[in-house]
This record gives sequence, structure tokens and C-alpha cells, in this order.
Amino acid sequence: MAEPVPPSSGQTPRTRLAALLNASRPLENVLVKGWVRTVRDQKGFSFLEINDGSSLQNLQVIAEDGSACYQTAIALTTGCSVEVHGQLVASPGKGQDWEVKAREILLIGDCPDTFPLQKKRHSDEYLRTIAHLRPRTNKFGALFRIRSSLALAVHNFFADRGFVYVQTPIITGSDCEGAGEMFTLTTQRKGETLAPDKDFFGKAAYLTVSGQLEAEMFACALGSVYTFGPTFRAENSNTSRHAAEFWMIEPEMAFADLNDNMTLGEDLVRHLVSHALDKCSEDVDLFAKFVDKTLRGALDNIINNDFVRMSYTEAVEVLQKSNQSFQYQPMWGKDLQTEHERYIAEEYCKKPVIVYDYPAAIKPFYMRVNPDGKTVAAMDVLAPRIGEIIGGSQREERLNVLESRIREMGLSEEEYWWYLDSRRFGTTPHAGFGMGFERVLMMVTGISNIRDVIPFPRTPGNIEF
Ligand code: 4AD
Ligand code: MG
Repeated sequence: MAEPVPPSSGQTPRTRLAALLNASRPLENVLVKGWVRTVRDQKGFSFLEINDGSSLQNLQVIAEDGSACYQTAIALTTGCSVEVHGQLVASPGKGQDWEVKAREILLIGDCPDTFPLQKKRHSDEYLRTIAHLRPRTNKFGALFRIRSSLALAVHNFFADRGFVYVQTPIITGSDCEGAGEMFTLTTQRKGETLAPDKDFFGKAAYLTVSGQLEAEMFACALGSVYTFGPTFRAENSNTSRHAAEFWMIEPEMAFADLNDNMTLGEDLVRHLVSHALDKCSEDVDLFAKFVDKTLRGALDNIINNDFVRMSYTEAVEVLQKSNQSFQYQPMWGKDLQTEHERYIAEEYCKKPVIVYDYPAAIKPFYMRVNPDGKTVAAMDVLAPRIGEIIGGSQREERLNVLESRIREMGLSEEEYWWYLDSRRFGTTPHAGFGMGFERVLMMVTGISNIRDVIPFPRTPGNIEF
């Protein structure tokens, strides 16, 4: 095996693979750096496939027997990092337009055969155990490029509509959802018991479950705002759709009602799907080929059809009449289970559905009470295969109603004094929602486990990396 050499300072700047693969003409001098995916020897040539993460496609590098770099090339192994100087030429071979005829190949970092990614296909379960290496596979490389591109698409969507991006705090003193699923944050050490008033903030502190309450304060000042950041839930549900740390996009609009909210949610979902098809087409194709053969059709269906809008009451009726054997009986007053959500979206409507007006008793205190007194102006967007991707509502803007809802739910009015101020001082109807970013990625790629759309997933009992 060749000795590693320090990367050259190089006069020729490094070019990304993605740029070379889309070159419009041959280039006399190129410098590429990347990791070796495969090495093969054939008829006096050594063929390297290298990848630098900028594209799904590898770059073929050819070293001719007898050339100075041939000996280096044949000693390379899968996983090595290399620097290649050469000429970009039209490729006579199938599968690529361009290849690099190497003049010089330098080994940057050696890779012994204990490198776990030797063969092409590994199970998702196995790759989770090497989450630090899995971005080097085609599948996870593609996934994380899509993730990055969609994050930008989220910001562009809101910027185009005049929304202000607000960074709400990650450390919080209040439980937005009132569901008690928060991680406590403390400076307490082993063997110590600190009362919250003796702890760092002089009060109990948590990791946020949602930036909504803070976003509402900003919507009631800046009009339309959104947050996009990590949120944390200590719910002990070990499902394929729940993570303890996930990213949420939370728009909030002043002077808006539930209908405006539904329209925004629908537009956002459609915008993200179109963006993925337009801008990440090659990467999406990988998922359409290897993960879910029906993916393209499913995504076209989302773009080309209006979402169904259906009240919760209607949804329960549909479920009850469905003759399906659900594990949980659908019943008015009970929350919809994932099996119910999926039946409605996948089987009954065959497209995304927005279910609205849920029973007040199963929803958080901040949702606006409807004139019937029994339901609140809530909405969930349910997508085929995924279930809930968006949850939101029109907010209760009437001070007295909000105060009694807080009391009813056994929460303390004093804790929420600042939140209530927004209803005291120039209150206005407003609405917003939270969209799970990972759920969107699952929808766009067909990946069925949330652990496979997050760089380093946090789930109960799992924090290795
Ligand atoms: O429905 P949720 O709990 O709503 C809220 O948190 C509101 N405060 C949002 C708002 O109105 N501003 O969560 C919103 C979305 C869900 O629809 C789902 O997509 C995602 O966040 N989500 C999760 N994603 C991954 N893992 C979990 N444990 C999740 N919990 C919710
Ligand atoms: Mg929800």
C-alpha cells in the first residue's frame, strides 16, 4: 500500500465532482479530491470510482499501466481519500459523459479493509449502527443532500411570502403542548438534588417541544413569522415516526384564520415536493428506484391535486363505516391513531387530507374554541404512508376564553402571564402550525423510518453518536 502524503497546496484549485460531471467541454488540468468507492484493474488500466459528496454519480478516474500514477492507483482500496490531477476527457465508456485521465494520484488518507462499507448494499438497521459512516453511502449521501436543499426551500418559501424568520429559544421555562413530554435541563450533578429555585435559571428549565408560543408573540408584532429549529420530546414512543430530537418548521400569521392556515400548509407541502423533484431529481430517483417504486407517482399526486379538507367528525364517520379492523376503535372524542390517519389519506382519499375541528378535550389549551363549544379550530395535514406531517390551529385570541382553557387543563395562569399579555394588548385572530421536517423527508424519499432521515437520530435508549 502506498504511503500517505500530505495534501498538496496545489496551484490548480479543486473542482467539485458535480461540476466536472456537468462540464461542457474537456479540460486540460483538473484537480479533484474524494474518497475511493471502487478500484478495478482491466487490460492495462486501473479504473477508480471516486466520490466527494457533491453528487450521487461517481467520477471515473483512469490510470494507464506504465504511467507514474498506475502503481499508486492499484494499491488503493475502498474508502481511501485521494487527490487526483489529470485531464477531463469525454468518456468512451457507458454510464458517464466525462472521465479523468490521471497524471498524478496522491493518497491523502489510507483505509484498511476493516472499513465497514466494502460491499454495495447494507441493511438500514446495520447502517444505523454506523451512523458516523453511513453518509458515505449513495443512499445517505442522497438523503442528506435532499435534506439540505429542502431546508433552503423552506426559507425561500417564507422569504418569498414576506415572513420574518425568528429564532425562538431552545431552552424554555414553559411546556407549549402541555403534554408533559419535556426533557429537564439542569446543572445538577450526580448525587446532588437541586430544587428548581436553586438551579441555574432559578426556575425549572426544559428543552423546548415547540417554538410556537414565542413565535406567536412575534407574529403579534411582525405579522407573519416562522421558526425552523430543533425541538425535543421525551415521549417514550418507540415508533418509526417519532424521534426525541427533530426539526420543526413553525409559521405563525397574525390576522389569519384556520382557512388561511390550511392554505399555507398545503402550499408549503406542495412547494417542498416540487422543489425536491425539480432541484434534487437525481437524488430522488435513487429512492424511486431502490426504496419505493411508487414514489414518483405519489409525489406527482401531491403536486397535482388539491388536498381534501374534512372535519374530524366526518373523519370519524368515515372510519366507523370503513369495515376495517383497526387496532383502536375510532370513536368521537378520541384522538386519531396513525392507522386511522393512514387509512383516511391512503385508502379513502388517496391523497393528502386536512382534518380540522378536533374535540377540544384532546387538544392543547391555545387552540381557538369553535362556536359549538365542543371542538377547536385545529388542523392536521395527513399524508399517505406517513400520517400526520403538520399539526396546527387558529389560536384562542379571546383573553377570557383562553384563561378558562388554561385553568380547565390544570395549567397555571401565572406561568403564562406573558403569553396572556398578547391577548390583553391589541389581541387579534392568528393562526399557525408545526411541520415535522423529518416527516416531510420521509414523504419525499419513501424512507419509512425516521431514524434514517436524521444525521444522528435520538430515540429512547439510543444516543451512541
Ligand atoms: O402536532 P405537534 O405536536 O404540534 C405542535 O407542536 C404545535 N405547537 C405546532 C404549532 O402549531 N406551531 O407537532 C407538529 C408536527 C407534527 O405534525 C409532526 O410532523 C412533527 O411535528 N412531530 C414529530 N416529528 C418527529 N418526532 C416526533 N416525536 C414528533 N412530534 C411531532
Ligand atoms: Mg399533532
